[in-house]
Amino acid sequence: MPDRRLPTIAVLATGGTIAGAQSAHASHAYRAGALSVEHLLAAVPGLAQLARIQAGQVASVGSQNMTHAVWAALAQRVDVLCQEASVDGIVVTHGTDTLEETAYFLSLVTRHDKPVVLVGAMRPATAPGADGPANLFHAVALAGCPAARGRGPLVVMNEDIHYAREVQKMACAGVAAFASPNRGRAGVMRAAQAHFFSRNDTVHTRDSIFSLQALEAAGWPRVDVVHAGVGLGDDLIDFLAARASGLVLAGVGDGNATDGALAALQRASAAGVAVVRASRTGSGRVGRNVEVDDDAAGFIAAGELSPQKARILLMLGLSISRDPARLQEFFNQY
Ligand code: SIN
Repeated sequence: MPDRRLPTIAVLATGGTIAGAQSAHASHAYRAGALSVEHLLAAVPGLAQLARIQAGQVASVGSQNMTHAVWAALAQRVDVLCQEASVDGIVVTHGTDTLEETAYFLSLVTRHDKPVVLVGAMRPATAPGADGPANLFHAVALAGCPAARGRGPLVVMNEDIHYAREVQKMACAGVAAFASPNRGRAGVMRAAQAHFFSRNDTVHTRDSIFSLQALEAAGWPRVDVVHAGVGLGDDLIDFLAARASGLVLAGVGDGNATDGALAALQRASAAGVAVVRASRTGSGRVGRNVEVDDDAAGFIAAGELSPQKARILLMLGLSISRDPARLQEFFNQY
């Protein structure tokens, strides 16, 4: 008989290594998203003492194949569940490769106080020492925790709690792959208890002006990322500028690139393509008019957002405005 005093947590699975199955225990090779949500839940000891679980399968993909269609379905499911009085919190299981993008996307298009916790694993479910069960245990505990309310979507990995806007996958292997490089972790999980270090002082998801409806009405504006490096030419930028509504420069240092690339980006901007300068370094803040004259070029500075998150904000921004000044306001705020 389920304990009525326990929180009710909806667990939505999308695939990833957390649901990955190897062909052999000693094998590096595995298929992400092979196992069902029921299988993942059955592998977590003590879950029945934490929460009453409602399980749902939204997708079964490796997160390198996450799509805008799955994002839309996920955001809609989260919205519906957040409106159900019987649901106290939501957990989304996800591949780690693009987990930070889905978390940030949800933080901009869903507006609720209920905890929404994204979680993944670095080792497949069938590997010795799989980290998925412990991560999922903590995610369910966090989603049922009153202190997690009102903080927007959170990510829990390896006992660390991160805010959606801050979290980043920093390594391609190892269970400690996630960090919040600019502002630090939101807190830690210890023995099913959440300990938050501070309140997030970035804009709350509830106040976001973006919506899935506006994004769909705008047709999910195409935004591409250009990775800068020594000798970056202008031909790739010219090619993309003819096709995209927005471009994000994953620039060297504080969002810089060769003179030729900057000239191509300036041409793109003059032709009405929104151009955001971000940094490929992994942390820090790209400000306006430092080494590049953004005012003259019509560029937007990404602030603390990584190129992959800048791409999401620009896509959503373009669903409201194409004016670089307005888009810059969004980057200053979100
Ligand atoms: C994926 O992102 O689906 C594969 C990698 C992972 O989950 O760790």
